[in-house]
Amino acid sequence: MRATGVTEGLTSLSGVPQTPTYIAFEGAEGCGKSTQAARCAERLGAVLTRETGGTPIGARLREILHDTSIDHMSERAEALIAAADRAQHLDEVVRPALDSGRTVVSDRSVYSTLAYQGYGRGLPLDQVRQINEWATGGLWPHVVVFVDTPDDVIAERMSRRHLDRFEAAGREFHERVIDGFRTMAAADPGRWITVAAVGSISEVSAQIERALTDHDVTR
Ligand code: TMP
Repeated sequence: MRATGVTEGLTSLSGVPQTPTYIAFEGAEGCGKSTQAARCAERLGAVLTRETGGTPIGARLREILHDTSIDHMSERAEALIAAADRAQHLDEVVRPALDSGRTVVSDRSVYSTLAYQGYGRGLPLDQVRQINEWATGGLWPHVVVFVDTPDDVIAERMSRRHLDRFEAAGREFHERVIDGFRTMAAADPGRWITVAAVGSISEVSAQIERALTDHDVTR
C-alpha cells in the first residue's frame, strides 16, 4: 500500500498504475539502481528522471557537487545545493508529470540527502528534513525502492571507477550512508521496498516488479 498523497486501489490490470505515482530508487553508488530505475520506468510507461541533474539547472548544480577539485565545501552548502536541485526538479519535471497523469520514476530523491548529508556527513536529521520539506513543497516520493547491494559487490565496482567527490569520501562515510538507508527503510515500511540486489539484472528487476505489485503500485 502506498504511503501518502495517492488514492489507493487505482491500479490497472495491465500493470500500469492509473494513479500517478512518484517512485524513487535509492541505494549506494554502483548498486545498479540506475539500470533498474530505467527498466521500471519503461515497464510502467513512466517518466524517467534523476536527482541530482534532472534539469538543465540541476546539471550545473551537479557539476559543483561532484567536482573533485573542490575540497572545502561546507556540509550545509552541500545539503542546500542538493535541495536547490530538488526544488527545481520537482517544479520543472516531477509535479508537471504527476499533474498530467504520468507516473514518475526518479533515480534518487530527498532520501539521498537524508542518507548522505544527514547520516553520512552527520548533519542533524530533523534540520535536513525541514529544509527539504520547504524545498519539495511537501511532495515526497510515494514509494521508495531501496536497491540493497552486498558491500563487497559495491567495493569491487568502485575499485574499477574514476571516483567523484562522494565516491572518494571513504569507507566509513559510505557505511553510515548505507546504514541510513537501511534505518529509513525499516522505519517506514509503508513507503519503502527493500530489494536485495543479488542475481542478474533481470532477476533483480523481476524482484522489483513483484515487490511493486505486492505494494499495490502495479497489479
Ligand atoms: P549518482 O551518480 O548515483 O546519481 O550519484 C550521485 C551522488 O550524489 C551520490 O554519491 C550521492 C550524492 N547525493 C547526495 O550526496 N545528496 C543528494 O541529495 C543526492 C540526490 C545525491
